[in-house]
Amino acid sequence: MAAPLSTMKFWKPGSDGPGVSEERELSTETTSSPVIYNPHTSMSIEKQRQKLPVFKHRNHILYLVESYQTVVIVGETGCGKSTQIPQYLLEAGWAAEGKVIGVTQPRRVAAISVASRVAEERGALLGHEVGYTIRFDDCSDPHATRIKFLTDGMLVREMMADPLLKKYSVLMLDEAHERTLYTDIAIGLLKKIQKKRRDLRLIVASATLDAKKFQEFFNLNESGDPAKDTCGILTVEGRTFPVDVFYTVSPVPDYVKATVETVLKIHETEDDGDVLAFLTGQEEVEKVVSMLVEQARALSRYGMKKHLRVLPMYAGLPYAEQMKVFERVPPTVRKVIVATNIAETSITINGTVFVIDCAFVKMRAYNPRTAIESLVVTPISKAAANQRAGRGGRNRPGKCFRLYTEEDFEKLPPSTVPEMQRTNLAPVILQLKALGIDNVLRFNFLSPPPAQSMVQALELLYALGGLDQYGRLTDPMGVRMAEFPLSPMFAKMLLESGNFGCSKEIVTIAAMMQIQNIFVVPANQKKAAAREHRKFAVAEGDHLTMLNVYEAFIKHQKSSQWCQDHFLNYKGLLRAVTVREQLRRLMNKFKVPRTSSEGDPDVILKCIVSGFFANAARLHHSGSYRTLRDDRELHIHPTSVLYAEKPPKWVVYNEVVQTSKYFMRDVTAVESSWLVELAPHFYKQAKHGSLSSKRSKVI
Ligand code: CDP
Ligand code: MG
Repeated sequence: MAAPLSTMKFWKPGSDGPGVSEERELSTETTSSPVIYNPHTSMSIEKQRQKLPVFKHRNHILYLVESYQTVVIVGETGCGKSTQIPQYLLEAGWAAEGKVIGVTQPRRVAAISVASRVAEERGALLGHEVGYTIRFDDCSDPHATRIKFLTDGMLVREMMADPLLKKYSVLMLDEAHERTLYTDIAIGLLKKIQKKRRDLRLIVASATLDAKKFQEFFNLNESGDPAKDTCGILTVEGRTFPVDVFYTVSPVPDYVKATVETVLKIHETEDDGDVLAFLTGQEEVEKVVSMLVEQARALSRYGMKKHLRVLPMYAGLPYAEQMKVFERVPPTVRKVIVATNIAETSITINGTVFVIDCAFVKMRAYNPRTAIESLVVTPISKAAANQRAGRGGRNRPGKCFRLYTEEDFEKLPPSTVPEMQRTNLAPVILQLKALGIDNVLRFNFLSPPPAQSMVQALELLYALGGLDQYGRLTDPMGVRMAEFPLSPMFAKMLLESGNFGCSKEIVTIAAMMQIQNIFVVPANQKKAAAREHRKFAVAEGDHLTMLNVYEAFIKHQKSSQWCQDHFLNYKGLLRAVTVREQLRRLMNKFKVPRTSSEGDPDVILKCIVSGFFANAARLHHSGSYRTLRDDRELHIHPTSVLYAEKPPKWVVYNEVVQTSKYFMRDVTAVESSWLVELAPHFYKQAKHGSLSSKRSKVI
């Protein structure tokens, strides 16, 4: 049976207030926005380009880029910033003499999809005139590529090889409002470069941006004479198509369920158009997908003419699966994409008309007082809500259904706190040091991180052996850690594994830790799944359990049937195989010896401790755990094999997830003596048999 469809009630601000009319069904509330452009007509690409709001500003943009070193451009989503501005620059000659126009994106999918669109508009093959570069995937030609899209992280990496970024004439930092860690690092570094390279042009682009803050930051004019300003601002008015926003009449108790209901309601009551729903994480996405697939089957049995095609979209999904959301569907099918915030900015998914926004996002949070970094589900910002809505008005007028009241929308913060201020800074500092920034405390941050986070990161890097006592990058350990595309803790564990005699096993464990939810638990087969999963579980904890799973998967010729029989995530395991291969290659490059523990678990566990000693906790008499660093309360996550077992005295963990409590995920039992032995700079034996943190003086 299909779910009851009547419970979701929305209203549109500006219309009669909520509750005035009982007839607040979705389709009755829309204003009849004029259809400006029908995507199914064959308007030429050139005509389409000229219709975009940014086109009217073409000459002005080019004038500003000529006159100012930095230009801040604010324009509504869909107005043509990402796809058009790079082309205007190209047409105006900014890529002459082998120079490149670089455009950064906060996410991999965004880089690929915008690059593909621009290549298509130019009638070029992707990877020639227009290309992209993301981690582990370079689709650009060093001689032919004139417009290159890249992730902000890749730009920072390129600076390691080319500190002045000489090949670029213009760099556009796109979606700067997202303020990802690497956007902020790039911002600080580019300001430094601009002082040395007056010819380098910078464009900071976004839909919602504190333009003044950026202007003040990038203005190198110290004379006080505005005529000598080096940074200009341009605002582009108007978006291509209007998006009507609807709020729920009353708060929604369960947004997962509400998402499913809203999709079904749209499907029943609205005209053509695909749906894009935002949720916070992989688990929720998969849950909604399976609920909708079930409903879709029921609907087709009941003779619904139009079919639903439900597709998940999240970072952990293999690349080919992610790209499926861009595929066109026949007119008899309505596509429903259930995504995390990976689909929030930059991308245009053709056909998307309806957006469903749950108001939440899963974010990294770092508490400098407790030194705990955790993943936590928090309300989004207004800026993010507008970005989400903006995914709906790209090719024709759209509708956005917010699963919260307008009152709750008003309570949302205006913008997201920059990642720099809510993250463990160890990876940032490592990269800055690798770029020759010695005094990281005085680095030119657009929004400086808390000083305490800095000190903790320096302490950790020193204890990991990446920095020496003077705070300099060590060679080779620090240099190699900086080059590793994983966190310094993982990098240390991998780089040391040859010496511990277990590199074969550690590389598998590291790869498996990059995949979420290897164990599949179908709602109606919980017992059977638990029984199967127990076959892989070992008392030492999750790391060795994951090693067992991987080795068994290989032993059974990567069989999907075998995965199904044992309730294992087949696609996840395939991805682990690819990630493992990539890590293996890096380890070969750094000449990490290939060694195997030959069945001795202790060497593997010790090697894990050599990287993850900072994430150590001891059992408290209350039955919960306490961090060694700061005595904070932690719990074992219910998905851990150690949950509901006799709790080991000492553990290390991979990460912390925060819901009602702080939960440790991927937990392994260790010996306290190993912590002292392997992290002498970090812990020293304290009086009462427990360990305490030693504050080393590294600046
Ligand atoms: O960056 P911004 O949000 O300002 O817009 P854009 O990504 O440059 O896209 C401008 C317009 O191009 C969109 O509103 C779509 O109409 C169109 N577009 C498209 O049809 N297909 C794509 N893959 C990308 C853009
Ligand atoms: Mg854009």
